Amino acid sequence: MAATIVNPLREGLRLSRTPEPSTIVIFGGSGDLVQRKLMPALYNLALQRLLPGSFSVVGAARQPLTDDQFREELHRAVGEHSRTKPINEEVWKSFADHVFFIATPDERGYDQLSRRLDQLDTELGTNANRLFYLATPPGAYEPIVKAIGAHGLRGRTGWARIVVEKPFGHDRESARALTELIHQVFREDEVFRIDHYLGKETVQNILVMRFANGIFEPLWNRQYVDHVQITVAETIGVEERAGYYEQAGAMRDIVQNHLLQLLALVAMEPPAAFDDKAVRDEKVKVLRALRAIADGDVARSAVRGQYASGFIEGAAVHGYREEPGIAPASRTETYVALRSFVDNWRWEGTPFYMRTGKRLPKRSTEIAIQFRVAPHQLFSREASEGLDPNALVLRIQPDEGVSLKFGAKVPVQGIRIRSVNMDFDYGASFMVDAPDAYETLILDALRGDATLFTRRDEVDQQWAFVDPIIAAWAASPGPPALYEAGTWGPAEAEALIERDGREWRKA
Ligand SMILES: NC(=O)c1ccc[n+]([C@@H]2O[C@H](COP(=O)([O-])OP(=O)(O)OC[C@H]3O[C@@H](n4cnc5c(N)ncnc54)[C@H](OP(=O)(O)O)[C@@H]3O)[C@@H](O)[C@H]2O)c1
Repeated sequence: MAATIVNPLREGLRLSRTPEPSTIVIFGGSGDLVQRKLMPALYNLALQRLLPGSFSVVGAARQPLTDDQFREELHRAVGEHSRTKPINEEVWKSFADHVFFIATPDERGYDQLSRRLDQLDTELGTNANRLFYLATPPGAYEPIVKAIGAHGLRGRTGWARIVVEKPFGHDRESARALTELIHQVFREDEVFRIDHYLGKETVQNILVMRFANGIFEPLWNRQYVDHVQITVAETIGVEERAGYYEQAGAMRDIVQNHLLQLLALVAMEPPAAFDDKAVRDEKVKVLRALRAIADGDVARSAVRGQYASGFIEGAAVHGYREEPGIAPASRTETYVALRSFVDNWRWEGTPFYMRTGKRLPKRSTEIAIQFRVAPHQLFSREASEGLDPNALVLRIQPDEGVSLKFGAKVPVQGIRIRSVNMDFDYGASFMVDAPDAYETLILDALRGDATLFTRRDEVDQQWAFVDPIIAAWAASPGPPALYEAGTWGPAEAEALIERDGREWRKA
């Protein structure tokens, strides 16, 4: 009899990726995030057969919807926002049969939710394993978390976890208070704070690049790296998010979370294992070593800007203060540039330049490791005119990939050197669509793997870094420096890096 050949690696992979029977309870079930991100992600997981056999989704919000109304809304939303099109109606139907809605406007609503969850456990065999997802405005977190505790929503058996959307707090103090609140009902290892950047394939690839290869790590330090530049550039303006953005600004919206997480991944030491504790222990060490930009240093090492009117891809666009819902004298920053250092053995003296902005000329998130020039210039200055320093660029979005810039001889008589790029393109190399970050993160949360979620001490250090800068800006009399939409930010940002004899990359 022929034996079945099982590839142990694949088998292990499949088994380890399949979560246990469970229910996901989404507070804010009728909101925008659910329609644009969470449901398309869950549907795509169903399509890839990555959801457990016994599974249900329960949406909750204050305004009532019937199960059928909820399913219809989601069907429309998934049709519009799914990365795979068109909807596979057969998969949708069997998925949607396990989707329900309960209104929770008051205590009675939570009681009803509790009963419904118990009932679904019995009917579907979901074993009282529950993933709670807070997809409401942050103001609703407190009553919801308290209700989860008071109404016994965790269930008597099974596991319980909670996913919390960004922003996690408004400053260090409120983030600590939010953690304390959540800890009244969940242990820290049950808390999954989302930074969706960490779910992106190319962000995870930073770790793979660094730690699965032998060639980069020996160079990854102050001896060989001149400086690091991290850019998160957007072409879009504030769009419909005026209410949120006026309170947040670029510092809270991008720097406090995404940008500092990218910095931590690039600068961290090799973890002892690829697990949630080891990886997050190393990231938090970087965040602790990140030199504060405080008081007197803010003017030199931090720049804030705000976009004025201009042109994006040839089309005229309004300035920030002319956008709907924005105060005409708003001082909210739409651009931030920073210069800091990671004060540890590996990076002593190596500047990390970070910038983010809206209405910049190009949508681009990248990390550039710029290496020192060769120690001795063998070739004449004239021959080397076209030579830039070596740079390894990790492109996070769009056009995900990695490129290495180095000097090559121009094929003419005599020596003439020009910089060329060796390029790795994710899409072209693997010929598959990368999963959406939310697919990766929801699956990890269902499996209980918190590696790609931020721990309380990371969030705390991130706020500790940005709070003093925000405070200094709030105390300074001047508004942010204006920059024309469609340019790379205010002149002050150019000056910040040029003072060090360096320049921003044209990302
Ligand atoms: N939209 C995005 O792309 C995006 C991206 C990143 C992060 N986020 C974060 O995700 C969260 C949700 O954003 P959103 O854009 O989806 O907001 P939204 O469209 O305003 O939806 C909010 C949802 O929360 C529900 N809700 C409000 N108060 C509630 C309460 N006390 N109990 C239960 N449900 C309640 C609302 O329904 P009822 O009014 O009927 O209760 C609605 O379903 C926010 O924290 C946001 O910062 C959103």
